[in-house]
Amino acid sequence: MMTNVVTEAEQWVREQLERDSSGHDWWHIDRVRKMAVKLARESGGDELVCELAALLHDIPDEKLTGDEAAGLKRVRDWLERYDLGENVISRIMTIICTMSFKGGGRPPVATLEGEIVQDADRLDAIGAIGIARTFAYSGWKGQPMHDPNLPPRDTMSVEEYRKGKSTAINHFHEKLLKLSPLMNTPAARRIAQERHRFMLDFLERFQVEWDGADD
Ligand code: ADP
Ligand code: NI
Repeated sequence: MMTNVVTEAEQWVREQLERDSSGHDWWHIDRVRKMAVKLARESGGDELVCELAALLHDIPDEKLTGDEAAGLKRVRDWLERYDLGENVISRIMTIICTMSFKGGGRPPVATLEGEIVQDADRLDAIGAIGIARTFAYSGWKGQPMHDPNLPPRDTMSVEEYRKGKSTAINHFHEKLLKLSPLMNTPAARRIAQERHRFMLDFLERFQVEWDGADD
């Protein structure tokens, strides 16, 4: 039954997100799911709760569906078709509901499994993959990759975070470089260090080439 629900969750999510080009495509979900299982093994979290929450975490995304509450209900209705028990279902729902960054305004996740899935999602936003996703997302949104006249924003509301004018390079300063110290589990903190360093190297190279200051 448990492998069945995981396989069917895969299929359902694939159908929903197949045509997404905003960085929430199936392969993002697949990377987060694999990382969540890996972190669960290392940190002692419940693997099924982590894997299902990771697989379903982007379905209710408000900027993709326009209505987060309706998205959450769709996920709950889907889970209730399986014999998971209310305890497991509500643990998964709490994770999906609270883990999103959304400009920083949400309460912290309350369970080890929530910490794990949040770490896995945040790890996929940094490092080489994070760089690639940021430029892909910027292209999708139609924002420039860099504008030296547009400084990074310090603090912002959810609305500003989503709608305000920004650039791919600014997104590193507004979000991505803040993620590494926010990792919950020691395993994720270790992995984040190297990914963080790689982003700093990238930004340095980017500036050198932007200025034509190569040796
Ligand atoms: P998450 O689902 O991890 O909370 P988002 O939905 O905010 O992340 O974004 C998905 C991907 O798009 C991430 O890799 C993120 O870095 C990138 N992204 C989000 N907002 C922006 C932005 N304003 N500019 C560039 N990239 C962005
Ligand atoms: Ni995600």
